[in-house]
Amino acid sequence: MKLLFIAAVANNNVIGKDNKLLWHMPADLKHFKELTMEHTILMGRKTFESIGKPLPGRKTIVITQQENYDAKGCKVVNNLKDAICEVKNEKEVFVAGGSEIYRQLINLHHTRRMFITRIYADFEGDSFFPDIDTQKWELIDREAFEADEKNPYPYAFLTYKKKK
Ligand SMILES: NC(=O)c1ccc[n+]([C@@H]2O[C@H](COP(=O)([O-])OP(=O)(O)OC[C@H]3O[C@@H](n4cnc5c(N)ncnc54)[C@H](OP(=O)(O)O)[C@@H]3O)[C@@H](O)[C@H]2O)c1
Repeated sequence: MKLLFIAAVANNNVIGKDNKLLWHMPADLKHFKELTMEHTILMGRKTFESIGKPLPGRKTIVITQQENYDAKGCKVVNNLKDAICEVKNEKEVFVAGGSEIYRQLINLHHTRRMFITRIYADFEGDSFFPDIDTQKWELIDREAFEADEKNPYPYAFLTYKKKK
């Protein structure tokens, strides 16, 4: 089982503020949908609440310490060990944040790839993606785009692979 991180990250590593995204980038939403469709997605309780519903076509696992947490249409687990156990027979599972979840899983051996949409702008926020250590992670693909009428910032789809 491989965990694949997926995140949209500003220049200064900001990923959100007040439990919301800070930008509207339809190209990133499309990319997220294409990559994650029909896969299982793990996310923290706060990220789940910011989305507000399970994502169609994908099994959503919500991680919370609250024992009776009700997330309709999702599987709820109370710790990371149970989350991993829940997906152990799957091939590839996406980790969709937020920052607490990325931070706890980035160094786990299951975590092998990161699909990062780098948004080339700075934002003031309160949630951050962890620093990507280039001793541990190799950039294997980069597709860059200019801002356009729908996507207000230049951006790039980056793929990182964990070094052996
Ligand atoms: N740009 C992006 O790609 C992206 C992606 C995802 C999220 N975000 C942003 O990131 C922010 C949310 O991130 P966040 O770090 O505040 O929250 P989060 O990681 O989404 O959720 C944190 C919550 O997850 C639960 N949790 C975390 N570790 C746990 C563990 N080991 N065992 C059991 N439960 C655990 C706890 O829930 P309980 O408190 O219920 O126990 C904790 O409060 C938002 O602003 C969101 O918009 C951005």
